[in-house]
Amino acid sequence: SDLSHIRNFAIIAHIDHGKSTLADRLIQVCGGLTDREMKEQVLDSMDLERERGITIKAQTVRLNYTAKNGRTYQLNLMDTPGHVDFAYEVSRSLAACEGSILVVDASQGVEAQTLANVYQAIEANHEIIPVLNKIDLPAAEPARVKEQIEDVIGIDCADAVEVSAKSGLNIEGVLESICARLPAPQGDEKAPLKAMLVDSWYDPYLGVIILVRIKDGVLKKGQKVLMMQSGATHPVDRVGVFSPKMEEVKELKAGEMGFITAGIKSVADCNVGDTITEDGRRCAEPLPGFKPSIPVVFCGLFPVDASDFEHLRDSLAKLRLNDSSFEYVPETSAALGFGFRCGFLGLLHMEIIQERLDREFDLDLITTAPSVVYRMHMTDGTLKELHNPADMPDVMKIDFIEEPWVKATIMVPDDYLGPILQLCTERRGIQLDLTYAGNRAMAVYKLPLNEIVFDFYDRLKSISKGYASFDYEVADYSESDLVKVGILVNGEPVDALAFIAHRTQAEFRGRAICARLKDLIPRHLFKIPIQAAIGGKVIARETIAAMRKDVTAKCYGGDISRKRKLLDKQKEGKKRMRQFGKVEIPQTAFINALKMD
Ligand code: GTP
Repeated sequence: SDLSHIRNFAIIAHIDHGKSTLADRLIQVCGGLTDREMKEQVLDSMDLERERGITIKAQTVRLNYTAKNGRTYQLNLMDTPGHVDFAYEVSRSLAACEGSILVVDASQGVEAQTLANVYQAIEANHEIIPVLNKIDLPAAEPARVKEQIEDVIGIDCADAVEVSAKSGLNIEGVLESICARLPAPQGDEKAPLKAMLVDSWYDPYLGVIILVRIKDGVLKKGQKVLMMQSGATHPVDRVGVFSPKMEEVKELKAGEMGFITAGIKSVADCNVGDTITEDGRRCAEPLPGFKPSIPVVFCGLFPVDASDFEHLRDSLAKLRLNDSSFEYVPETSAALGFGFRCGFLGLLHMEIIQERLDREFDLDLITTAPSVVYRMHMTDGTLKELHNPADMPDVMKIDFIEEPWVKATIMVPDDYLGPILQLCTERRGIQLDLTYAGNRAMAVYKLPLNEIVFDFYDRLKSISKGYASFDYEVADYSESDLVKVGILVNGEPVDALAFIAHRTQAEFRGRAICARLKDLIPRHLFKIPIQAAIGGKVIARETIAAMRKDVTAKCYGGDISRKRKLLDKQKEGKKRMRQFGKVEIPQTAFINALKMD
């Protein structure tokens, strides 16, 4: 069969370089939506995504475009997430396409995620079309940026397309390049069905929706399909494409992309990278597949109101239906009661889940500081993974501890390089490479993940006034001199505040936390000592002075309505407080105490 009219491609870009805006324009020019429908950013379907302006779930849109040569092409546009936490999802989705559109903001140039994404596209054997966006901006320098792309990435920019996704300038140039320059897919329609499970998500009405790329054969409604990795079989009850509206089609053929539903209840049953074949007529060999993405950052989530525990459990289960990359197990904390230890792909992923719990499920939560997974090599020869600093075993039983390291790429204008290198050094970084492209420097560092999970990215942004970009991949584990620092409030250890640090930094961090807690915990009627300790040894101490009596006395004067207001206010405040021994600790203290400046 003839596949020469099909083009499967992804758009890759650094965050904010205009990927979604360009995708919307391509859809509009191809007539996929009316003007009114265009008003909503169609590819970013979740509210949260739209507000934050980031794309989380990859989706695919089928477009028809009649090129200047008179032929009508079927274009399958695959949306990819742009943020560092989701880099792995990008690499998976690229395997479903033959080409990539590389969008670079012509007023900014190449950034860290431009590089990370483009390397993945090269690895996936993609044909790459460079597109310079935002040429409407006075600050745009397309010629300079083309040179930079050639220098830094090494791809030819002679035929790069210059566009303004915002104004719609030269969108046809992009479509013509896609048809002329990207290869058509290959595949055999007559062979047994072989399809790649590209992505899946949970829809409350239809159950799990599976995005597929057909390599060989034909996929139809009523067919009984087999997931080769999981071994499960399901009758297909719906086959369709997004145009971008959901539309059912008769069949999906070799080379094409689309979706199926098959009455599946949980995305955990749909392994991305699995091969889908026909149960009665199986393909000989499955596709190579992917490794699952593993959580690297963990934190505790506890309901402020203990009676919300079951609600939290149900909400986590619902979120997990949609996002199998996040994990959770029940956890008990002396300070915070019953909750869950949750694992995430990175910090942004963690924030997104927290925000969804707050917004969609109306949960008032206390979040403990994020931590990484340590490997404890015990004296008895066993290996323990530590997900929670509070669970650190007796140091006498530990032979040595390993921590995860990442390889980080930072791109930054020259002027800010000095303080950025200093930040990396402070965070125990080891410089691997330092190069220049024009007035931008590219620094490659090996850094302990522990040192970046908390606020590295925020610090990087503030030091560079927002001009630095950052990307990382988890590299390996290596041995480190790590200690657990416990925090005692009024003489009692607060497990949720314990953290693990390199020995050389334990005292400095302990001091900073005590000083911060002093400001975060309100005065009580008695004096409150705050201490940081390694084992039994106190390494830092602060004291919160007792409250003066006349401050409370004031609350009892005045008229009744004022009093009620005060009481209500107190109640409101209470909701966000946690009673610990005799001391009330505000919810915000649990996370803010560990921030560093
Ligand atoms: P993520 O989805 O977060 O990865 O970002 P993105 O790369 O999809 O960027 P998006 O399309 O959301 O655009 C980012 C910002 O740039 C938005 O405010 C757009 O309005 C703006 N923008 C996009 N294209 C152009 C353009 O051609 N010219 C100008 N001036 N602004 C643009």
